Amino acid sequence: MEPIKFLKPAADFHVHVRDGEMMKLVVPTIRQGGVSVAYIMPNLVPPLTAVKDVLAYKSRLEEVDSEVTYVMTLYLSTAITPEVIHEAAKAGITGVKCYPAGVTTNSDYGVNSYVPYYPTFAAMEEENMVLNLHGECPSAGHIHVLNAEQEFLPTLKDLHTRFPKLRIVLEHCTSAAAVAAVKECGPTVAATITAHHLSLIIDNWAGNAHNYCKPVAKLPSDRDALVEAATSGSPKFFFGSDSAPHPVVNKEKAKGYSAGVFTQPNVVAYVADVFAKTGKLDKLEDFVCNFGRNFYNIAEKPTDWTIALKNENVIVDPLLGTGPGAVVPFMAGEPLDWKVEIV
Ligand code: DOR
Ligand code: ZN
Repeated sequence: MEPIKFLKPAADFHVHVRDGEMMKLVVPTIRQGGVSVAYIMPNLVPPLTAVKDVLAYKSRLEEVDSEVTYVMTLYLSTAITPEVIHEAAKAGITGVKCYPAGVTTNSDYGVNSYVPYYPTFAAMEEENMVLNLHGECPSAGHIHVLNAEQEFLPTLKDLHTRFPKLRIVLEHCTSAAAVAAVKECGPTVAATITAHHLSLIIDNWAGNAHNYCKPVAKLPSDRDALVEAATSGSPKFFFGSDSAPHPVVNKEKAKGYSAGVFTQPNVVAYVADVFAKTGKLDKLEDFVCNFGRNFYNIAEKPTDWTIALKNENVIVDPLLGTGPGAVVPFMAGEPLDWKVEIV
């Protein structure tokens, strides 16, 4: 079979690359995985809540690989006033990421209620910025990791009704209920789907910390709904890997290990494998290249390369880096049927 060549490299609309040594280790894997546009998450320690800090972070990323287009975000907290939104828009920051307090990695400064942020959301709507929602309610009472996303969906719909022109992305959706809710909303609401949630279910992370992330992978019926949405050709669903590197020492602790699945070096190959198995390879380019770009409409650096898919067996590297800061990739040591080549 002839390789399938795309017009452009992939665009990944949900990326964690951290800072310092981890950033230096992980940023080169963005291009290696076939991606030229990376939407960068702000949940550093401390989180990025000032425009100047986001811009300084972008410069540090550029120092590692200046050919990737980094699309930048702020972390929603009490510091993000309407004035900060206007300043951010002028500085070219694209989005604001909202983490409910305590639901995931570095979310301690996140939100407890959305109401105080209505003026901020109104300013974002005015500036055409994007609100990126981590769509989970914190576990408490009847809420637990399996229904936390479903319980959040009324909030998604409420925000969309209040701010109909505000572009909202439900990040890393993981359930059939979320897919249905996003379809019911107007065209300003879209969702990202990760590579790993296209194959994982609850059994794969119960007992394997490397497959544990938030929101957790759910039932086979949820996984199937995600595959159906991603391969459907609907522009409301596009690729955001939520690749989330953690040092192996933090993943292999007996208790309290970090949430996050690291997929960056092979993001497109994982997705290609799933699309091929469902006979939908013809829908891959729209999902990983076009729909996200169309929704965001960002200015990109020109690239002189693209990607080609080859039906060739590859084994996923067991480890990226060395020592306690090394990172274990998703499906470490396992075979993939599709190889992504940079051409
Ligand atoms: O599993 C996750 N890891 N989910 C998130 O929302 C954050 C991410 C991280 O930063 O490690
Ligand atoms: Zn994330």
